[in-house]
Amino acid sequence: MNPLDWFLNQARRPRGWAGRLLVRGMNRAHGQMTDWALSQLSVRDSRALLDIGCGGGGALLRLSELAPQAELHGIDFSPQSLSVAARTNRRLMEQGRVLLREADVSDLPYDDGRFDLAVAINSHYFWSDLAEDLREIVRVLQPGGTVALAGGEYFGGKHDTRNRRLASNERMNCQTLPELRDTLCEAGYSNTEIHEEWNRGWFCVVGRKPVVDTEESLRPT
Ligand SMILES: C[S@@+](CC[C@H](N)C(=O)[O-])C[C@H]1O[C@@H](n2cnc3c(N)ncnc32)[C@H](O)[C@@H]1O
Repeated sequence: MNPLDWFLNQARRPRGWAGRLLVRGMNRAHGQMTDWALSQLSVRDSRALLDIGCGGGGALLRLSELAPQAELHGIDFSPQSLSVAARTNRRLMEQGRVLLREADVSDLPYDDGRFDLAVAINSHYFWSDLAEDLREIVRVLQPGGTVALAGGEYFGGKHDTRNRRLASNERMNCQTLPELRDTLCEAGYSNTEIHEEWNRGWFCVVGRKPVVDTEESLRPT
């Protein structure tokens, strides 16, 4: 396997000691981008939020300060990622504020309407079926709840050439930002927003679960 394939396989699902090292490195390498992405969101009043593909748990630690009243949940399908996330958030886990579970985004182990905010940072381009997985996320969001996909790999940005090389041979599912927004709309989100930090090559695309108009839904058809 060539080094790029090896690296992206590890980023997709970290394994073994090398995976643990990589995840620890990602906590550092993704810190500034994560701060920027979270600054695009209204996080402060969140009561229950979910970090999907939480990796080493760096975003959960940041969110614990930005959303002081929130229960913070993280899922990842890599046990290695979760063990680093548990270390990163040990004190918050002892306090019962951070809860981690091994799970796949395609089958979230939560009731409908459990969260007001879901974030996925540098993760969605590895999911098996982005549109379907976004539908699974909309299920666990409350009406009006927010989903945010953020990262540095997308088409049309400052690092387009690099990202097209990374995504070649279906190694990653990269899209342009308008395409990503269309995928959110197809999956049932509304009030979408696109944020881009061109100079750094970062994006954060946001969608909201529609609030059902109860009068409308109760009206006989
Ligand atoms: C590139 S890492 C990013 C980790 C972290 N969010 C960050 O920004 O540093 C991608 C993470 O998403 C997880 N992941 C990828 N596909 C997943 C899926 N289908 N379900 C749950 N986790 C997934 C991987 O195991 C890995 O920990």
